[in-house]
Amino acid sequence: MDISENTRSAAHQDFLREFPLTGPGTKAGKVLRHYWHPVCLSKDLVDIPYPVRMLGEDLVAFRTPDGKVGLVGAVCPHRCAALEYGQIEGRGLKCSYHGWTYDARGRCTDMPLEPENSPLKNEVRHIWYPTIEWAGLVWCYMGEDKESPPPLPKIDILTRDDGELIVDRGDFRNYSYQNFMENFADLGHVYVLHLIAPGEVPEDVKPHCDMTVDTEWRRAEHRVFETHFGMKSVVVHNTADPKRKFANTWSLVMPYYFRFGGITAGLPPDFTVDRRESGGMLRIIDDTHFEIFRYTLIRPGNFRSTFFPRGNDTSRGLAEGVRGTVEKKPYDYRRYPAWEGRPPVEDLVIQETQGAIPPRHLETLGTSDIGVALLRKIWRRSIDNVAQGKPPKQIETDENGVIRIDTFKGLVSTGELKLGPANMPDSREGRGLIRDAQGKPVFK
Ligand code: FES
Ligand SMILES: [Fe+2]
Repeated sequence: MDISENTRSAAHQDFLREFPLTGPGTKAGKVLRHYWHPVCLSKDLVDIPYPVRMLGEDLVAFRTPDGKVGLVGAVCPHRCAALEYGQIEGRGLKCSYHGWTYDARGRCTDMPLEPENSPLKNEVRHIWYPTIEWAGLVWCYMGEDKESPPPLPKIDILTRDDGELIVDRGDFRNYSYQNFMENFADLGHVYVLHLIAPGEVPEDVKPHCDMTVDTEWRRAEHRVFETHFGMKSVVVHNTADPKRKFANTWSLVMPYYFRFGGITAGLPPDFTVDRRESGGMLRIIDDTHFEIFRYTLIRPGNFRSTFFPRGNDTSRGLAEGVRGTVEKKPYDYRRYPAWEGRPPVEDLVIQETQGAIPPRHLETLGTSDIGVALLRKIWRRSIDNVAQGKPPKQIETDENGVIRIDTFKGLVSTGELKLGPANMPDSREGRGLIRDAQGKPVFK
């Protein structure tokens, strides 16, 4: 891919300005409104309203006593009281100020201070969006065709039953979600940023690692591919055995899913703590805020521990008060002192300090930026398509409605190495898992 292709053109500069926007009146926001979005965990909706900002719109979610979920505008269309302080009653949410009540489709079902047969009820239609509950999460669709929304594509990892699935939420960020997505499309950064203070391979993993994997980026092969769901980045490393390569694939699904074989602390010699499949999705709050939902699938054969002990503070999804692992110097007055050594903290610092909306027109892309360039290419095409009334990048699913993305990480023989959008092999085969000489999974 030609990295510099048209990047200085006025049209591309317009695109760069548009790219991080999320609101209903923006071109990029219109693209986002073609997809379903995660709102909260199902268990977050009990018997009181749940305020939630999505794509720049303030909303309130609620669960009625019969178990149904509604998602309506946060501001009461009567006299602007906050519906997050409303009362859940019957099939709807009742404003606490004068009792106007809204059902899950925004229809007003009661106005207790108006005459019994007042027509006003039928004239009010509040903002509402359809929701679905699936995999322990509430999802919403904010597109124009909300009366007949497309089916929710099911992300494969949430359908897996071959391991223990851990889903985490609550990591809030104060910058554009595209800073996060672009960081994920940029595999090269792993070889610099996450090697500033690399982790040690734990003793119990060492005997099962190929310590000869050559981690020098310039000797590795790095390729990116557009796929039926978004894009895939592949890096292939040599080992001492010319017939064996170490392959690592990362996937991005439009517009907010990411997936990789877990790196929890820098790069050990064969890039593995565990080769567990990890990833997540972003709840896009507005142009400069998002929340990370993370999931990890731990299968028999995965090393369960992380390199470093975890603190109990998971309020930002990051252990130990957003600190790295290196010594904190008494004269370090930076916002994130001693930040090096823990990849999630390293990523946070770099993503946030680029700016809430970075001055992308000042950038100079290099050859390692092929992933960023591909992600932008997909987005630019999507924005152009939606502006012309066509759909954005479509996510293909299998016959069960599942998005198959997969992220194989492990050793492959040179003969079966396939550099392309397809997986090599499929990680569901379990070949990437850590096994002993007899082929049995090493960890329980
Ligand atoms: S402001 Fe909500 S019913 Fe009056
Ligand atoms: Fe990173």
